Amino acid sequence: MTKILRGRVLSFLRQPQVADDHDSYSFIEDGAILISGGTIKAVGAFADMPLGVEVIDHRPNLLMAGFIDTHNHFPQMQVIGSYGAQLLDWLNNYTFPAETKFADPVHAERMAGKYFDEMLRNGTTTPVAYCSVHKTSAEAYFTEAARRNIRALGGKVLMDRNAPEGVLDTPQSAYDDTKALIEKWHGKGRALYAISPRFAITSTRAQMEMAQALVAENPTCYMQTHLSENHDEIAYTMELYPEHPDYLGIYEHYDLLGSRALLGHCIHLNDRERSVMADTDCVAVFCPTSNLFIGSGLFNEERTRTDGIRIAVATDIGGGTSYSMLKTMDEAYKVCQLQNQNLPPLYAFYLMTLGNAKALGLEAKIGTLEAGSEADVVVLDAAATPAMALRMETVTTLAEELFVLQTLGDDRSVVETYVAGVASKP
Ligand code: GUN
Ligand code: ZN
Repeated sequence: MTKILRGRVLSFLRQPQVADDHDSYSFIEDGAILISGGTIKAVGAFADMPLGVEVIDHRPNLLMAGFIDTHNHFPQMQVIGSYGAQLLDWLNNYTFPAETKFADPVHAERMAGKYFDEMLRNGTTTPVAYCSVHKTSAEAYFTEAARRNIRALGGKVLMDRNAPEGVLDTPQSAYDDTKALIEKWHGKGRALYAISPRFAITSTRAQMEMAQALVAENPTCYMQTHLSENHDEIAYTMELYPEHPDYLGIYEHYDLLGSRALLGHCIHLNDRERSVMADTDCVAVFCPTSNLFIGSGLFNEERTRTDGIRIAVATDIGGGTSYSMLKTMDEAYKVCQLQNQNLPPLYAFYLMTLGNAKALGLEAKIGTLEAGSEADVVVLDAAATPAMALRMETVTTLAEELFVLQTLGDDRSVVETYVAGVASKP
């Protein structure tokens, strides 16, 4: 099916270097995206599009590449908004019990449906998820993504200690289940697999060796884990692994680092860890709503960027409090403000799209509206609520409009979400 989406078309070309870096993006006021077979065939002025093709007119709304959420937890939808605990208590009191339920395939399937509904409602067309320890949860996740033709990344967590029995595997079962899931899903349709040792606290050395083997044997898979989120977590980690110089040193020892390594949080890094992250080309995943909600700390965006470490952004549902990447960047802005740093709106929207695509090495497929890309598109209305409409009366520039979207917007600003060219907002 061939179609044309008409609207105000915005797509990033590269990372903005300054707040008003107008060369970093392409913007067409009366623009159009020509889509066929799930792929973008052409982008340009509406006047230059072929005649006789169905036109869906989204004017005056913005058309952008669908958002990418590089770190969230599919089994934590019923954990969001759990009161009064910092990381380790939050995991033990709320999160591990909720994840235990994902041994049941019926529960996992129901949650997978809800999960992708929320992603699409919020304009996120590519999530990167941690599933629970159970193979069933990863099956439910990838099956639902395939049913909706969503480009989804994820994997079952590896965890064999320091958690309740119901969410533990063993080194061998973690290896066997991950291997089977990779064979079944990695590269099938739009699915990609992320080998997911949860964090050092919940893996024995024997399991870390299994993770090492999985990463070595599957070089096109991703590796995701958590790093340096909370002070008590770091102290406990170093009690468990005293032979390593620091937290990152553990993952380094087991050869888990590299350009496909996604390290969630990275808040309290030491200088050595920063330099190893930059040298090994790892990605630091900034999860602002989670970092504020669980009281973990303030991610130092400016320092991380100037240290030459790659940065991605994410919701971290259910430590995070919103499925919306707009709300996520609203909170990211405030985290930067608290450190006297700037997060310009062009950069924020770059991060949600092309920036996150580059963090995944998928910028040829997603994250932009270039011809040849997969037709994942979000349609955004910066005047979606009465308060936004009132504020928009005084807005004169694109950057200001983006900032209104980021500061006041959420799923109500998402008019439509196209997945491989198909309108899919629930
Ligand atoms: N560290 C290990 N597991 C988790 C998790 O589920 N959420 C967060 N925020 N941090 C973690
Ligand atoms: Zn997480």
